[in-house]
Amino acid sequence: MTKQRGFSFLSFALGVAAAGVCAAAVAAWVVAGGFAARNRPGRMEAGLARLALRGSVPRSLREMPAPIAPTPEGLKAAREHYADHCASCHGNNGSGETMLGRGLNPAPPDLRLDATQRKTDGELYGIIQNGVRMSGMPAFGNPGNGDVETWNLVFFLRHLPALTAEEEVEMEKANPITPAELKEEQAEDAFLNGEADQPAKAKGKER
Ligand code: HEC
Repeated sequence: MTKQRGFSFLSFALGVAAAGVCAAAVAAWVVAGGFAARNRPGRMEAGLARLALRGSVPRSLREMPAPIAPTPEGLKAAREHYADHCASCHGNNGSGETMLGRGLNPAPPDLRLDATQRKTDGELYGIIQNGVRMSGMPAFGNPGNGDVETWNLVFFLRHLPALTAEEEVEMEKANPITPAELKEEQAEDAFLNGEADQPAKAKGKER
């Protein structure tokens, strides 16, 4: 009995040590290439990143069909929502060719391509809902499987490969702008409404 227990403790300790050595080797391998976002990931790191992406959605959700059907209103709302929340990284057309997108590693994939479009509705829902750890992809929406806004986003992602030029122009209006751009826009509006010289006049009076 005691002998057996001694043996199992030894194998346990050896197991822990071996796991530690493996983990250190993997870490060294990954870090050897430099962990900066600018560097392209090696095969091993890309594999781990794919695992993180897949692991971010539980199987039950992956296999879950959409509980609502797409509607024109839902799609329009999702288009605006996407333009406001997602386009900064993914681009209005889903290409991922944006300033932020190009600087991220793993980079946002082209959402119009097979690798994304082949994913199930539930998987896309789960990715949007849960985010992807150790990547730039944040978690959005309310917890649970019934977030209507997120399901509508899934339908919009399905529509991305067929996005029209007119829709893209619409989306540009819903893209977020910086405070500086907002100020510039307000100044332009004021000018167009003939209010541009109001503040100057007021100043003149004060003097
Ligand atoms: C801050 C940048 C950022 C924002 C904002 C963002 N994403 Fe992402 N997204 C990413 C990155 C980076 C990935 C790649 C993650 C990976 O490969 O591990 C990603 C991956 C995804 C994927 C998985 C695609 C695939 O085939 O693997 C989907 C779907 C997605 N994003 C949808 C959205 C939606 C919808 C929104 C807005 C509600 C959004 N994202 C907002 C950065 C972003």
